[in-house]
Amino acid sequence: MMIKKSLVLTALVCLGLPMVSMAAEPPIEAYKAWTANKDHAITEALGGLKGDAARGRKLAIASAKGNCLACHQLPIPEEGFHGEVGPSLHGVANRYSEGEIRMRIVDIQALNPASLMPPMYKNPAELKQVAKKYAGRTILTAQEVEDVVAYLMTLK
Ligand code: HEC
Repeated sequence: MMIKKSLVLTALVCLGLPMVSMAAEPPIEAYKAWTANKDHAITEALGGLKGDAARGRKLAIASAKGNCLACHQLPIPEEGFHGEVGPSLHGVANRYSEGEIRMRIVDIQALNPASLMPPMYKNPAELKQVAKKYAGRTILTAQEVEDVVAYLMTLK
């Protein structure tokens, strides 16, 4: 358990924090609380925002943002490197509902505390051991989460 925990921290330090640090520091937006249902799905869009699949595809590539490609294979042929730390996301919308996809992007560690995937939209007040500079921030904004959800929903 200790080992797994330190792996998670390493993942956060290696991937989560640089994602934020490389971006021009946007102002901290108010955290939009979400709730998961008993099937581990977040059926309501964060803040009622509407996602844009084309923007989501860009965010999935951006190493300073979601950095999804670092760990997942995606149908993005123009990018050379596709990681294999996580499962391939080809056809992910056939396996999961929109709410289940949102849950996994927002806080996969709520489902699997040992997951190497950083929680992209966990309540900043609940994050432990975050450098002061990053305190109060989520890795992705609510709009960015919805954009990535919209993109993954096209993967059928
Ligand atoms: C540090 C590596 C890492 C990064 C970065 C990462 N993931 Fe993951 N992801 C994983 C791992 C590992 C799993 C496997 C599930 C687990 O750990 O419990 C996973 C699981 C998932 C799943 C569930 C897939 C399934 O078939 O069960 C989705 C959806 C997902 N990730 C989406 C994303 C998206 C979208 C991004 C970018 C915003 C992203 N991930 C970034 C490592 C990562």
